[in-house]
Order: sequence, then structure tokens, then C-alpha cells
Amino acid sequence: MKELKISAIENGTVIDHVPAEKAFDVADILDLDGIENIISIATNLKSKKVGKKGIIKIGGKILSKEETDKIAIIVPTATINIIKNYRVISKAKVRLPERIEKIVKCFNPNCITNKENVVTKFMVIKENPLRLRCEYCERVMKRGDIRLI
Ligand code: CTP
Ligand code: ZN
Repeated sequence: MKELKISAIENGTVIDHVPAEKAFDVADILDLDGIENIISIATNLKSKKVGKKGIIKIGGKILSKEETDKIAIIVPTATINIIKNYRVISKAKVRLPERIEKIVKCFNPNCITNKENVVTKFMVIKENPLRLRCEYCERVMKRGDIRLI
């Protein structure tokens, strides 16, 4: 069987093991404006680990903590590979931090973070199923309640 592969990259980041339908969500999370290297987004590739998978390759970019945290929320299966001189120099499954700051919106319309200019803060009280507790109003959000900022 013939197989088409996306090119290897020289330097940068490869986000792998993304469920196929989440590939574009991951691309949306990332700040890709102004990158001059090759960016490849592929989806519906075959995978043993996640059924059909997506993969995102970004030449010349190392993800910020905010980007990595967002990916951990949206795509808990993802692996982040850092490539240097064509070699994988670091490979790690994404992990949720204990506290999530700034990147998630509180779903309680009356929360102070939605009324005033206050940075959101949540405790990850459970990873599976995901539960985030707002440090201001103490409401607990499930996965379906979560909106990224
Ligand atoms: N990769 C790349 N450019 C390179 C090296 C690797 O784009 N110069 C990509 C590979 O295509 C793969 C990912 O980075 O999608 C991780 O590479 P590697 O660890 O070699 O692949 P696997 O063994 O398949 O990874 P895993 O065990 O995590 O599934
Ligand atoms: Zn709140």
C-alpha cells in the first residue's frame, strides 16, 4: 500500500497523536502568525494509538507554556516532540498543570472574572473526567463547559 508522508522538519515542534477531528482546533490554538518556516497540518492519517490521527509540524517554533497548556486541555492524548537538526531531542505527552491561569474563561456569567478585568485562575481538581474549579467563584467546570480565551 502506498503511503504519503509529510516531510520531516529540521528544527521546530511536532504535535503528534492528535485525534483527527481536533487537528484544526490545535492549529487555532497556536500563534502561527508571522512564522516564516514551513507549517504542515495533516489529518485523517492512520494511527494505532488514536484511531485516525492528526499531526501538526511547525518549523522553527517552540511552544509557549500557554500554548502547551491549551493543547493539554483540548487534546490530552497529544505528544509534543521537539526537533533539532532533524532529530527528536525531546518527546513528552502533554500534561495538565495543577493550576490553569489566563487561558480559560469561567462559565459563570456572574463571576468577577467576567465582570472586571481579572485574570482567570482554576485548580485542576480532577483530570479524568476533567474538572476545573474557579478560584474566584468556586464553580466547577466540566470539559463541555470549557472555553478558551
Ligand atoms: N518528525 C519530524 N521531523 C523530524 C523527526 C521527526 O517531523 N526530523 C516527526 C515524525 O514524523 C513523528 C514525530 O516527529 O510524527 C515523532 O518522531 P519519532 O519519535 O521518530 O516517531 P514515532 O516513533 O512514530 O513517535 P511515537 O513513538 O511518539 O509515536
Ligand atoms: Zn468563576
